[in-house]
This record gives sequence, C-alpha cells and structure tokens, in this order.
Amino acid sequence: MGLLITGGAGYIGSHTCVELLNAGYHIVIVDNFSNSKPESLNRIRRITGKDFTFYNVDLLDKDGLESIFYENEIEAVMHFAGLKSVGESVALPLRYYLNNITGTLNLCEVMKEHGVKQLVFSSSATVYGNPDSVPIDEGFTLGATNPYGRTKQMIEEILSDLFHSDNEWSIALLRYFNPIGAHKSGLIGEDPNGIPNNLMPFISQVAVGKRYELNVFGDNYPSRDGTGVRDYIHVVDLAIGHIKALKKVLETKGVDAYNLGTGIGYSVLEMIKNFEKVSGRKIPCKIVDPRPGDIGICYANPVKAKEELGWIAYRGIEEMCEDTWRWQINNPNGYEEHANLTITNNNIIQEV
Ligand code: NAD
Ligand code: UD1
Repeated sequence: MGLLITGGAGYIGSHTCVELLNAGYHIVIVDNFSNSKPESLNRIRRITGKDFTFYNVDLLDKDGLESIFYENEIEAVMHFAGLKSVGESVALPLRYYLNNITGTLNLCEVMKEHGVKQLVFSSSATVYGNPDSVPIDEGFTLGATNPYGRTKQMIEEILSDLFHSDNEWSIALLRYFNPIGAHKSGLIGEDPNGIPNNLMPFISQVAVGKRYELNVFGDNYPSRDGTGVRDYIHVVDLAIGHIKALKKVLETKGVDAYNLGTGIGYSVLEMIKNFEKVSGRKIPCKIVDPRPGDIGICYANPVKAKEELGWIAYRGIEEMCEDTWRWQINNPNGYEEHANLTITNNNIIQEV
C-alpha cells in the first residue's frame, strides 16, 4: 500500500516526502513542475537513499490521474499541489481557481472512484483573513481576502461537504502558518521563481548577495517594534505534522481543521536580527509603505494539533534561520546549479 503525494517536488512536499521515506512509508509522487524542478526529486533520493515512483502529471489531466490509481495501490493522499502566490492570484484569478479547485475536484473524484477516502490537505492560515484577535484558533470566522486564499477556503468547504455526503471520508485540513527553514542536509529548500514575495527567501537572497536590500513593509503596526508579526514554523516540523495527521486520518473518520504553527510571533526586524546573527552577514533594509492587503499580527493557537494529533513544533527561530542559510549558501541559484546570475541595486537579476 502506498501514499500518493501531490506536489511532492515542491518546497513543503519534498520535505514531507523525506520524512515519510525515512519513516518507512511507500510513496508515489505526482507533480507537473509548474513551480518546482526535477532536481528536487533527485535530492530526496540522495537524502533518504530510498526510491519512489514519480508521475509528471497535471491534476487537471483526470485520465492521467486515473492511471496513477490503476497502476498503484493507493491508501491515502497528501495533497500539496496548488498555486500559491497571492499577487499572481489577484492578476490571474481564473488560473488559480482552475488549477487549485478543479485540480482538487479531479483528485477527489478519482479517489472516490477507487475507494480511497483518506486525505491530508494543505490549507493555509490565509483562510482567516485579518483576524479580530491573536492567537488564532480553528473556530475563528474564515474570511480569505484574495483569490489564492479563497481557493483554500473553498476547497475546505468542498471537502467538508464531501465528508457530510459520505461519512467514510477522513480529511485533515492543515492550516499552515509561515513555513521557513530547510532540511539539515542543505540539499532541499525553498526555491522561489523570480523575485521572492515572502520574507525569508528575500532575506536569505539579500544575505547571499543576490538582492541589494530588503524592503520592510510598514513600521506602524501594533507590535513590539511596529513591523509585521508572523508565526514562522520550521518546514521539517511542518512535515512531521503531516505524518501525525496521516495517522489520524488512517485511524478515524471525519473532517477537521488544524493550525500548524508554533504559537510564537516574530516581527520583521526580529527576523532580520536573527538571520544576521546566524549568517554573519548584514541585511541592508529600508522601511517602506505597508504592502496592500497585509495584516499586522498573526500567530496560531496550536493547542488543537497538540491535543488531537500529538504534534508540536520543536525547532526554534535560530534553527529555522540557520537551516535556511545553509540551503541558500549551498544553492545560491536554488536547484538551477549552472545559472550565473547577479543582482543590480534595483533588484534586477542579470546574467554575467
Ligand atoms: P510549491 O509551489 O513549492 O509546491 C507545490 C507543488 O505543486 C509544485 O511542485 C508544483 O509544481 C505542483 N503543482 C501545482 N499545480 C499542480 C498541478 N495542477 N498538477 C500537478 N502539480 C502541481 O509550494 P509549497 O510552498 O510547497 O506549498 C505546498 C502547498 O501548501 C500549496 O498548496 C500551498 O498553497 C500550501 N501552503 C503553502 C504555504 C507556504 O508559505 N509555502 C503556506 C500555506 C499553505
Ligand atoms: C504571505 C501570503 C499568505 C501566505 C503566507 C505564507 C501575501 C499577501 N500573503 O503571507 O497568503 O499564506 O505568505 O506563505 O503574500 N515582509 C517585508 N518585506 C518583504 C516581504 C515580507 O517586510 O519583502 C513582511 C510582511 O509585510 C509580513 C512578513 O514580512 O509582515 C511576512 O511576510 P510573508 O513572508 O510574505 O508572509 P505573509 O505576509 O504572512
């Protein structure tokens, strides 16, 4: 019996595949490389010394998905595959709704046809929108504020409806806070396309000299130093959270949402300081206007995951920064080993 991992070549998926293989699970990965590189699969093999079956199939290709289920005995699915850029989702909403929602509908239909009803889904803290208070718990009203977030919220609703139509389903909706860090080997990590939108990849690219300086989006939030606060979680802790959730869906029936976060918030300036400390590099930065649509302070109440999944995040902020830095310094161009790029002072990448 095997597990199907959609989006397993991506950032969180690849780390989860490593933990699954190390724990002795048999896995089948499906990815269309729309936001990842085949090299990440080689690295998973290198870290674990184990092999797995891979399909280069788009979730929009339902026939392709069906053949995976015919050719393999799938027991449960971890569903990471999806597009995840907020800004892009505002510009290209149809692409996001089609890829994320239709992809999930195809997956669930094929699962149902094959009697596979155990699913761990990658949701996001973005479903909470701008919360009234912190820490955020799973009972808070949902209110995603952009098309990407709405795909996650809609999929959560679709999956709840699915369970209510057939109580044999068992579904965990994992609401990730802010995943950062990388595997200790420095062989896999986050490899964003183009200019990173998220804080940590941007900081590490400044540290390694690929970007000139960091723009700090606003310093007038009601936080310790005025900059935005987030609940950063080590990607390996997150990966382990998936294994705990998998055990739960294999043992019980139902649909449940879980926050995967640490419960601790760090500001942008605190993240810069921590990264400077572990990297020994200065991160030049300047305060600019807040990013449109940004929220001020966001961190999880992770108690439900502790009580019901037996999971907590162990890795602290220094380890998150150290592991991000090791990945960045070992792979300055991500998985693209031979790219020869430099950065000008207005953040334009040039080939040299
Ligand atoms: P990622 O882009 O690195 O990985 C997603 C993978 O899915 C990529 O390898 C991509 O090629 C693949 N994919 C996308 N659409 C596909 C399709 N139609 N068919 C087949 N493969 C497809 O992203 P990630 O950071 O690893 O995130 C994984 C999941 O977690 C996503 O669903 C994302 O929305 C969610 N999430 C991520 C974060 C984060 O900060 N990284 C936070 C909350 C939720
Ligand atoms: C972003 C996404 C969110 C997604 C989450 C995790 C947006 C608007 N939201 O949220 O949907 O679930 O990532 O992937 O993109 N910051 C800077 N300078 C930068 C980048 C970020 O100051 O160059 C600040 C932000 O204002 C924020 C913090 O750093 O206060 C974290 O930002 P980011 O990493 O983008 O995560 P989120 O804003 O939580």
